[in-house]
Amino acid sequence: MWSHTTISKKLYLWSEIRGLEEKSKGVVTLAFSQKHLLGLRGVSADDINEILNTADLMKVILASNNKKTPHLQGKTVLTVFYENSTRTRLSFELASKYMGGVAANMSASGSSVAKGESLVDTARTLDRMASDVLILRHPMTGAPHLMAQHVKASVINAGDGTNEHPTQALLDMFTMKEKLGRIAGLKVAIVGDVMHSRVARSNLWGLTTMGASVTFAGPPTLLPPELAAAGCGVTECVDDAVRGADVVMGLRIQLERQQKGLFPSVREYHKLFGLTQERIKLAKKDALVMHPGPMNRGVEISSFVADAPESVIDEQVTNGVAVRMALLFLLTRNNG
Ligand code: CP
Repeated sequence: MWSHTTISKKLYLWSEIRGLEEKSKGVVTLAFSQKHLLGLRGVSADDINEILNTADLMKVILASNNKKTPHLQGKTVLTVFYENSTRTRLSFELASKYMGGVAANMSASGSSVAKGESLVDTARTLDRMASDVLILRHPMTGAPHLMAQHVKASVINAGDGTNEHPTQALLDMFTMKEKLGRIAGLKVAIVGDVMHSRVARSNLWGLTTMGASVTFAGPPTLLPPELAAAGCGVTECVDDAVRGADVVMGLRIQLERQQKGLFPSVREYHKLFGLTQERIKLAKKDALVMHPGPMNRGVEISSFVADAPESVIDEQVTNGVAVRMALLFLLTRNNG
């Protein structure tokens, strides 16, 4: 394993070398071409690979005794959360701090949003505080896209309504590649409340771009009909989706987004659609069990499955920090 100093030097040299190369070519962009990360729909395999490869290096730094790097020195990262979060918000905050950046958080409650300030006015206000990256979680689909139109900073979508949660899918893909050695050709079953899941949509766009095949499974009331047109499998039979899968991903039942009556009872849901020990046996022998968290144990996933050796749920959390470090590193180099 490389030492922390080696990795830091490597990253430093890498950005320096790229800067020189770009100057000599008269272009200003890195191999990673995005100013914002608003979703994975339309993001190229090259850009996704760039993030995942950078995250490989960041993970080595994360595992070392000295997690501090200078790559975000002088940069300000603001997390702007209109919805609750543990993993996404804290991992962005820690990613920024590990790389020497300034990190601060704004929540809807306790800020002037509670006094009625609009999203655009909030965005402009935060932008004028010399922020370099704004990370937004919002209940409205398209909120980060709106924010990006009104700020100079880079905007990262940390979850918008039921639309996308791109950094979750990136960390999911990173975990698959790390554990299984590839993404292309993998058979991924995504099971549960697909209708309300931004994780499901970002994984669909990211995984299909990277050459994996995706099958969604869940109760018919929670399977959006438009999915079939997106080139993935859709089934009401969880056993069919899980059979022969390389990866089985459970999705949280999002009780906070649901109208009543979409499934009869929690107990019945678990029996018919939950990830149980019996169901997981249908997947490939060394299949990964994943879940974005937070989990409803005993509903979409049994505790036995969540804590089984095949489960990489805890590893997903660690990888979330590495992927977010990589993304902040790449975006701040694209944003001048
Ligand atoms: N997976 C995820 O987005 O978790 P948080 O809501 O805790 O950020």
